[in-house]
Amino acid sequence: MLVNLQEILSLAEKSQYAIGSFNTPNFENIMAVLKNAEHYQIPVILAHAQVHESVMPLETIGPVMVFCAQKAKVPVCVHLDHGEDLDYIERAMEIGFTSAMYDGSKLSYEENVENTLKAVQLARKYNAGIEAEIGVMGNSESGEETNGMQEMEDIYTDPEIAKKFVEATGIDALAASFGTVHGIYTSEPKLDFPRIEKIKQLVKIPLVMHGGSGVSQGDYITAISKGIRKINYYTYMAREGTYAAKKVLDSTRNPLYHDIALAAVRAMEKDIESAIRIFYHCNNE
Ligand code: 13P
Repeated sequence: MLVNLQEILSLAEKSQYAIGSFNTPNFENIMAVLKNAEHYQIPVILAHAQVHESVMPLETIGPVMVFCAQKAKVPVCVHLDHGEDLDYIERAMEIGFTSAMYDGSKLSYEENVENTLKAVQLARKYNAGIEAEIGVMGNSESGEETNGMQEMEDIYTDPEIAKKFVEATGIDALAASFGTVHGIYTSEPKLDFPRIEKIKQLVKIPLVMHGGSGVSQGDYITAISKGIRKINYYTYMAREGTYAAKKVLDSTRNPLYHDIALAAVRAMEKDIESAIRIFYHCNNE
Protein backbone atom coordinates (compact mmCIF):
# COMPACT_ATOMS: atom_id res chain seq x y z
CA MET A 1 0.00 0.00 0.00
CA LEU A 2 1.49 3.30 -1.09
CA VAL A 3 1.49 5.97 1.65
CA ASN A 4 3.08 9.39 1.95
CA LEU A 5 5.81 10.63 4.27
CA GLN A 6 3.40 12.20 6.76
CA GLU A 7 1.39 8.97 7.06
CA ILE A 8 4.40 6.71 7.50
CA LEU A 9 6.06 9.01 10.04
CA SER A 10 2.88 9.22 12.08
CA LEU A 11 3.03 5.42 12.39
CA ALA A 12 6.61 5.75 13.66
CA GLU A 13 5.60 8.41 16.15
CA LYS A 14 2.68 6.33 17.41
CA SER A 15 4.86 3.27 17.99
CA GLN A 16 7.98 5.24 19.00
CA TYR A 17 10.21 3.47 16.50
CA ALA A 18 12.20 4.56 13.43
CA ILE A 19 11.18 3.82 9.87
CA GLY A 20 13.99 2.32 7.77
CA SER A 21 14.51 4.29 4.57
CA PHE A 22 16.50 2.13 2.18
CA ASN A 23 18.06 3.31 -1.05
CA THR A 24 17.05 1.01 -3.91
CA PRO A 25 19.03 1.79 -7.06
CA ASN A 26 18.54 -1.85 -8.16
CA PHE A 27 15.63 -4.25 -8.22
CA GLU A 28 17.64 -6.53 -5.92
CA ASN A 29 17.51 -3.85 -3.20
CA ILE A 30 13.75 -3.49 -3.56
CA MET A 31 13.26 -7.25 -3.18
CA ALA A 32 15.49 -7.41 -0.10
CA VAL A 33 13.63 -4.54 1.61
CA LEU A 34 10.08 -5.66 0.83
CA LYS A 35 10.73 -9.28 1.82
CA ASN A 36 11.63 -8.05 5.31
CA ALA A 37 8.82 -5.52 5.46
CA GLU A 38 6.19 -8.14 4.71
CA HIS A 39 7.79 -10.72 6.99
CA TYR A 40 7.85 -8.34 9.96
CA GLN A 41 4.66 -6.52 8.90
CA ILE A 42 6.31 -3.12 9.18
CA PRO A 43 6.06 0.10 7.15
CA VAL A 44 9.18 0.99 5.14
CA ILE A 45 10.51 3.64 2.77
CA LEU A 46 11.99 2.83 -0.64
CA ALA A 47 14.31 5.68 -1.62
CA HIS A 48 15.99 6.74 -4.83
CA ALA A 49 18.91 9.15 -4.43
CA GLN A 50 19.52 11.75 -7.12
CA VAL A 51 23.21 10.87 -6.90
CA HIS A 52 22.32 7.37 -8.16
CA GLU A 53 20.90 8.76 -11.41
CA SER A 54 23.98 7.51 -13.30
CA VAL A 55 23.60 4.03 -11.74
CA MET A 56 19.85 3.83 -12.34
CA PRO A 57 17.72 6.52 -13.98
CA LEU A 58 14.74 7.81 -12.00
CA GLU A 59 12.37 7.16 -14.91
CA THR A 60 13.46 3.49 -15.00
CA ILE A 61 13.45 2.49 -11.34
CA GLY A 62 10.84 5.01 -10.13
CA PRO A 63 7.78 3.34 -11.69
CA VAL A 64 9.04 -0.04 -10.41
CA MET A 65 9.33 1.35 -6.87
CA VAL A 66 5.83 2.83 -7.02
CA PHE A 67 4.35 -0.38 -8.46
CA CYS A 68 5.99 -2.53 -5.75
CA ALA A 69 4.81 -0.12 -3.03
CA GLN A 70 1.22 -0.25 -4.33
CA LYS A 71 1.27 -4.06 -4.35
CA ALA A 72 2.92 -4.44 -0.92
CA LYS A 73 0.82 -5.74 1.97
CA VAL A 74 2.34 -3.16 4.31
CA PRO A 75 2.51 0.67 4.11
CA VAL A 76 5.36 1.74 1.81
CA CYS A 77 6.43 5.31 1.09
CA VAL A 78 8.39 6.04 -2.10
CA HIS A 79 10.91 8.77 -1.45
CA LEU A 80 13.38 10.82 -3.46
CA ASP A 81 16.60 11.10 -1.45
CA HIS A 82 18.84 14.21 -1.59
CA GLY A 83 17.02 15.93 -4.42
CA GLU A 84 19.10 18.97 -5.28
CA ASP A 85 16.90 20.29 -8.11
CA LEU A 86 13.24 21.17 -7.87
CA ASP A 87 12.80 19.86 -11.44
CA TYR A 88 14.11 16.47 -10.43
CA ILE A 89 11.75 16.39 -7.44
CA GLU A 90 8.83 17.24 -9.72
CA ARG A 91 9.81 14.40 -12.09
CA ALA A 92 9.72 12.00 -9.12
CA MET A 93 6.30 13.25 -8.01
CA GLU A 94 4.95 12.88 -11.55
CA ILE A 95 5.99 9.21 -11.39
CA GLY A 96 4.06 8.80 -8.13
CA PHE A 97 6.68 9.37 -5.42
CA THR A 98 4.96 10.31 -2.17
CA SER A 99 7.92 12.01 -0.55
CA ALA A 100 11.16 13.84 -1.31
CA MET A 101 14.09 15.28 0.53
CA TYR A 102 15.08 18.68 -0.74
CA ASP A 103 18.81 19.05 -0.10
CA GLY A 104 19.80 22.70 -0.06
CA SER A 105 22.73 22.14 2.27
CA LYS A 106 25.19 23.61 -0.26
CA LEU A 107 23.21 26.87 -0.39
CA SER A 108 23.06 29.86 1.93
CA TYR A 109 20.42 29.69 4.67
CA GLU A 110 18.19 32.14 2.78
CA GLU A 111 18.40 30.24 -0.52
CA ASN A 112 17.81 26.96 1.29
CA VAL A 113 14.63 28.36 2.88
CA GLU A 114 13.42 29.80 -0.44
CA ASN A 115 13.89 26.56 -2.37
CA THR A 116 12.61 24.35 0.44
CA LEU A 117 9.40 26.41 0.52
CA LYS A 118 9.02 25.85 -3.23
CA ALA A 119 9.57 22.10 -2.69
CA VAL A 120 6.87 22.05 0.01
CA GLN A 121 4.40 23.89 -2.26
CA LEU A 122 5.17 21.46 -5.07
CA ALA A 123 4.74 18.42 -2.82
CA ARG A 124 1.36 19.62 -1.55
CA LYS A 125 0.03 19.50 -5.12
CA TYR A 126 0.84 15.78 -5.16
CA ASN A 127 -0.23 15.04 -1.56
CA ALA A 128 3.41 14.21 -0.84
CA GLY A 129 5.76 15.12 2.01
CA ILE A 130 9.04 17.00 2.18
CA GLU A 131 12.10 16.36 4.29
CA ALA A 132 14.86 18.97 4.32
CA GLU A 133 18.23 19.42 5.94
CA ILE A 134 19.91 21.95 8.16
CA GLY A 135 23.60 21.37 8.85
CA VAL A 136 25.73 19.23 6.58
CA MET A 137 25.86 15.45 6.40
CA GLY A 138 29.45 14.59 5.55
CA ASN A 139 30.63 11.72 3.43
CA SER A 140 33.34 9.59 4.96
CA GLU A 141 34.54 8.50 1.54
CA SER A 142 34.43 11.81 -0.27
CA GLY A 143 37.99 12.65 0.67
CA GLU A 144 36.75 15.84 2.28
CA GLU A 145 38.89 15.47 5.35
CA THR A 146 37.91 17.49 8.39
CA ASN A 147 40.43 18.83 10.86
CA GLY A 148 39.05 16.84 13.75
CA MET A 149 36.05 17.12 16.01
CA GLN A 150 35.75 20.92 16.08
CA GLU A 151 35.42 21.17 12.32
CA MET A 152 32.90 18.31 12.34
CA GLU A 153 30.81 20.08 14.97
CA ASP A 154 30.80 23.26 12.89
CA ILE A 155 28.67 21.45 10.30
CA TYR A 156 26.28 19.86 12.85
CA THR A 157 22.70 21.12 12.99
CA ASP A 158 22.29 24.20 15.19
CA PRO A 159 19.07 23.64 17.21
CA GLU A 160 17.98 27.31 17.11
CA ILE A 161 18.53 27.58 13.35
CA ALA A 162 16.69 24.27 12.90
CA LYS A 163 13.67 25.70 14.76
CA LYS A 164 13.68 28.83 12.60
CA PHE A 165 14.06 26.75 9.43
CA VAL A 166 11.19 24.41 10.24
CA GLU A 167 8.88 27.31 11.09
CA ALA A 168 9.83 29.16 7.91
CA THR A 169 9.36 26.22 5.55
CA GLY A 170 6.58 23.99 6.93
CA ILE A 171 8.51 20.79 6.13
CA ASP A 172 7.30 17.39 7.34
CA ALA A 173 10.63 15.97 8.59
CA LEU A 174 14.03 17.40 9.42
CA ALA A 175 17.36 15.73 8.62
CA ALA A 176 19.72 16.61 11.43
CA SER A 177 23.49 16.36 11.39
CA PHE A 178 24.84 15.14 14.73
CA GLY A 179 27.78 12.88 13.97
CA THR A 180 26.73 10.36 11.33
CA VAL A 181 28.18 10.42 7.81
CA HIS A 182 27.30 8.72 4.55
CA GLY A 183 29.41 5.81 3.36
CA ILE A 184 31.80 3.48 5.19
CA TYR A 185 32.89 4.74 8.61
CA THR A 186 36.65 5.07 8.82
CA SER A 187 36.41 5.45 12.60
CA GLU A 188 33.66 4.78 15.10
CA PRO A 189 31.01 7.54 14.90
CA LYS A 190 30.56 9.63 18.04
CA LEU A 191 27.00 10.86 18.07
CA ASP A 192 26.08 14.14 19.74
CA PHE A 193 22.94 13.04 21.62
CA PRO A 194 22.52 16.22 23.71
CA ARG A 195 22.28 18.09 20.40
CA ILE A 196 19.56 15.82 19.04
CA GLU A 197 17.70 16.13 22.36
CA LYS A 198 17.81 19.93 22.12
CA ILE A 199 16.63 19.85 18.48
CA LYS A 200 13.76 17.57 19.48
CA GLN A 201 12.69 20.01 22.21
CA LEU A 202 12.58 22.92 19.77
CA VAL A 203 11.36 21.20 16.62
CA LYS A 204 8.00 19.46 16.73
CA ILE A 205 8.36 17.36 13.58
CA PRO A 206 10.02 13.93 13.11
CA LEU A 207 13.83 13.89 12.91
CA VAL A 208 15.86 11.94 10.38
CA MET A 209 19.25 10.26 10.70
CA HIS A 210 21.28 10.12 7.50
CA GLY A 211 24.39 7.97 7.27
CA GLY A 212 22.45 5.38 9.21
CA SER A 213 24.25 2.19 8.17
CA GLY A 214 27.34 1.23 10.16
CA VAL A 215 26.01 2.74 13.42
CA SER A 216 26.16 0.58 16.57
CA GLN A 217 23.08 -1.10 18.02
CA GLY A 218 23.37 0.99 21.20
CA ASP A 219 23.54 4.23 19.24
CA TYR A 220 20.49 3.31 17.16
CA ILE A 221 18.51 2.62 20.33
CA THR A 222 19.59 5.88 21.97
CA ALA A 223 18.94 7.90 18.80
CA ILE A 224 15.42 6.46 18.50
CA SER A 225 14.74 7.17 22.18
CA LYS A 226 15.77 10.80 21.55
CA GLY A 227 13.28 11.23 18.71
CA ILE A 228 14.85 9.92 15.48
CA ARG A 229 11.91 8.56 13.44
CA LYS A 230 13.52 7.80 10.05
CA ILE A 231 16.90 6.18 9.49
CA ASN A 232 18.49 6.29 6.05
CA TYR A 233 20.32 3.07 5.32
CA TYR A 234 22.23 1.91 2.26
CA THR A 235 26.01 1.49 2.20
CA TYR A 236 26.47 -1.47 4.55
CA MET A 237 23.63 -3.44 2.93
CA ALA A 238 25.12 -2.81 -0.52
CA ARG A 239 28.53 -3.91 0.75
CA GLU A 240 27.06 -7.18 2.08
CA GLY A 241 25.63 -7.75 -1.40
CA THR A 242 29.08 -7.29 -2.91
CA TYR A 243 30.72 -9.69 -0.44
CA ALA A 244 28.14 -12.35 -1.23
CA ALA A 245 28.60 -11.87 -4.97
CA LYS A 246 32.36 -12.22 -4.58
CA LYS A 247 31.91 -15.47 -2.65
CA VAL A 248 29.88 -16.90 -5.54
CA LEU A 249 32.48 -15.74 -8.06
CA ASP A 250 35.30 -17.27 -6.02
CA SER A 251 33.59 -20.57 -5.33
CA THR A 252 31.55 -21.41 -8.41
CA ARG A 253 32.73 -22.46 -11.84
CA ASN A 254 31.04 -20.42 -14.57
CA PRO A 255 28.55 -18.55 -12.36
CA LEU A 256 25.78 -16.78 -14.24
CA TYR A 257 24.65 -13.28 -13.38
CA HIS A 258 21.43 -14.47 -11.74
CA ASP A 259 23.47 -16.64 -9.32
CA ILE A 260 25.35 -13.55 -8.20
CA ALA A 261 22.21 -11.39 -8.01
CA LEU A 262 20.38 -13.99 -5.94
CA ALA A 263 23.27 -14.36 -3.49
CA ALA A 264 23.40 -10.57 -3.19
CA VAL A 265 19.67 -10.32 -2.48
CA ARG A 266 19.90 -12.97 0.26
CA ALA A 267 22.87 -11.23 1.88
CA MET A 268 21.18 -7.81 1.73
CA GLU A 269 17.99 -9.28 3.18
CA LYS A 270 19.98 -10.59 6.13
CA ASP A 271 21.77 -7.29 6.68
CA ILE A 272 18.55 -5.29 6.54
CA GLU A 273 16.87 -7.75 8.88
CA SER A 274 19.40 -7.01 11.63
CA ALA A 275 18.78 -3.28 11.22
CA ILE A 276 15.00 -3.68 11.13
CA ARG A 277 14.92 -5.70 14.33
CA ILE A 278 16.53 -2.75 16.10
CA PHE A 279 14.68 0.10 14.34
CA TYR A 280 11.24 -1.43 15.00
CA HIS A 281 11.99 -2.96 18.41
CA CYS A 282 11.26 -6.49 17.18
CA ASN A 283 14.20 -8.13 18.95
CA ASN A 284 12.07 -10.73 20.68
CA GLU A 285 10.55 -12.30 17.57
P1 13P B 1 24.64 5.19 4.58
O1 13P B 1 25.69 5.58 3.59
O2 13P B 1 25.19 5.21 5.98
O3 13P B 1 24.03 3.88 4.29
O4 13P B 1 23.51 6.30 4.56
C1 13P B 1 22.61 6.37 3.50
C2 13P B 1 21.94 7.68 3.51
O5 13P B 1 21.98 8.43 4.47
C3 13P B 1 21.20 8.08 2.30
O6 13P B 1 20.67 9.36 2.39
